[in-house]
Amino acid sequence: MSPDFKADLETEMLRCFEALQQRLTASNPNLHALWKNICSALTYPIEAGGKRVRPVIVSRMAEACGADPKHKAIIKAAAALEFVHTYSLVHDDLPCMDNDDFRRGQPTTHKVFGEANALLVGDALLTHAFFLLATLPDAGIKPAIALRCAAVLAQKSGAQGMIAGQWLDLAFEKSTQTADLNTLVSIHNLKTGALLAASFVLGALLGCALSREPELQELNQEQLDRICETAERIGMKLGLAFQIVDDILDASQSSAQLGKTAGKDQHQNKLTAVSLLGLERARSTAESLTQDCQHELHSLQELLTQYSGQKLGSHNFKNLNHLVNELLVRTS
Ligand code: IPE
Ligand code: IPE
Ligand code: MG
Ligand code: MG
Ligand code: MG
Repeated sequence: MSPDFKADLETEMLRCFEALQQRLTASNPNLHALWKNICSALTYPIEAGGKRVRPVIVSRMAEACGADPKHKAIIKAAAALEFVHTYSLVHDDLPCMDNDDFRRGQPTTHKVFGEANALLVGDALLTHAFFLLATLPDAGIKPAIALRCAAVLAQKSGAQGMIAGQWLDLAFEKSTQTADLNTLVSIHNLKTGALLAASFVLGALLGCALSREPELQELNQEQLDRICETAERIGMKLGLAFQIVDDILDASQSSAQLGKTAGKDQHQNKLTAVSLLGLERARSTAESLTQDCQHELHSLQELLTQYSGQKLGSHNFKNLNHLVNELLVRTS
């Protein structure tokens, strides 16, 4: 998945921690060893890797809008998404949440640095994501667009999005009430769909702002809103499919293959697509959501083609379409 883009993304993310260590050391050189420890802890869950799905979505969505997928502003926003996602994993693994010892092929952050420090690592990654978005104007983005990106990410990762989903996930783990498909869809949309939707919307906002097509740089408010709404719908469909596949993989793959503990959902009595629908129906649901997602992608392509005066077309969407199909058949 996009090796060049990923290399730039890794460099940007690691640069953040190097700069942090320099600033902390300058503030009090005597505490050098502790500053080093903070930076190692922040770097640890990021350097472990992962698929980088959310950053790749930002980049490919921007490419679909006619922008350079490796523009400095795209890399910054992509890093912000990955920081929020990684924070969510560090906290998700804590003993008070899913209590997992293994993530991205290595012991979880709290296993290595302790629970309190893992909590702080998550807090720091989340906060830094918003610093990156606040500094988008340094990469040539108008302040109004940077603010809109920050507002979208705050809504989708906060209590109106991912946090509400994580809350529901935990509530239904302990609940004796019988759950239905609507409840499952709410949990999955919020805990996973919301952040994928944010990735599409940020990719669309920055992609239009940086498009080589002047018509897309100068969209009116109504046109930009329509693009963002369509991008959001794509992300919600893909996010639901993505979490259903995550549930399927938990029930069908090994820990070695996943890089995280397999079989935990059943063990912890989680409400998942597999527990509610069984493996077969979960698979067919993910397939049909992926098809819905492709239809929504087609609507977005039509909208961009129209707004760009017929200059953008299906070739711009090739990489994004490919990603959507790849995520359905992934094995980790
Ligand atoms: C895992 O996300 C948690 C979910 C929202 C399903 P990913 O499957 O994207 O995890 P990484 O980033 O590849 O480790
Ligand atoms: C986590 O869902 C979603 C997040 C917001 C982190 P899961 O609990 O299913 O993710 P994994 O399986 O631990 O990666
Ligand atoms: Mg969880
Ligand atoms: Mg978990
Ligand atoms: Mg899971």
